[in-house]
Amino acid sequence: MIMVFLGAPGSGKGTQARYLYEKFGFEHISTGNLLRKEIELETGLGLSIRKIMEGGRCVDDDIVFQLIEIILSTRQGEHILFDGFPRNINQAKKFDALLAKYNRVIDTVIDFQIIFSKLMERLTGRYICTRCMSVYHKLFNPTNVEGICDKCGHDKFMVREDDKPRVVKKRLEVYEEQHQSLREYYLDRLKLYDLDADLDVAIVHRNLLVLLQKHMNR
Ligand code: AP5
Repeated sequence: MIMVFLGAPGSGKGTQARYLYEKFGFEHISTGNLLRKEIELETGLGLSIRKIMEGGRCVDDDIVFQLIEIILSTRQGEHILFDGFPRNINQAKKFDALLAKYNRVIDTVIDFQIIFSKLMERLTGRYICTRCMSVYHKLFNPTNVEGICDKCGHDKFMVREDDKPRVVKKRLEVYEEQHQSLREYYLDRLKLYDLDADLDVAIVHRNLLVLLQKHMNR
């Protein structure tokens, strides 16, 4: 099964993807995480994209597809969840063509719906375990024991460079420019389901499971 999560920065895609990985073993492919890994490792690619990502702009489609093709060519037949990819209509069209090359299709696309005014607070309060990359929030989703990761027990956390308010503003602008046409592309293909992402984490998760159950029983 191939599933795609669409949604604004901070709408909760990564948080829910993690739950699906833990519950059903969906491989979670976040293009943001893949790109950040390149930066961390200081690869040639990483050095060329650092400024773009820190500015909140989109990385070139060709670079993103280099990474996606590696994933598809090495994970044939596995359940994969793409989080934050495709991000624009060009990527969506190109992704369909690439999937066809590997005899695969997108099964379902979930669009995380939330009002924009909530997102700044979500992103500027986010912190991430540096060992297992579990995502938390100072107010909405803190660790059970302060300073200790619930999942792996590690005690070091980081905040993302692009979660600074000025960069968040740019990311939201970029998202707004691209989202409607992407949404229409999947609506036309009857693949798109809306999910209310403006609820408590556990309720969003429950509703997502109900939605997936309905989809699987179609
Ligand atoms: P990427 O890493 O994909 O970031 P994003 O799409 O902007 O999404 P986020 O990871 O910020 O948010 P999320 O929806 O996963 O929210 P989360 O679950 O963490 O992309 C980063 C950059 O990489 C882009 O700007 C671009 O430069 C580049 N890039 C990536 N993909 C690309 C592509 N395909 N093409 C070109 N460039 C690309 O939750 C956020 C916070 O809210 C957390 O603190 C969490 O604990 C909390 N939270 C989650 N759910 C809830 C809830 N229900 N209620 C309250 N709080 C909640």
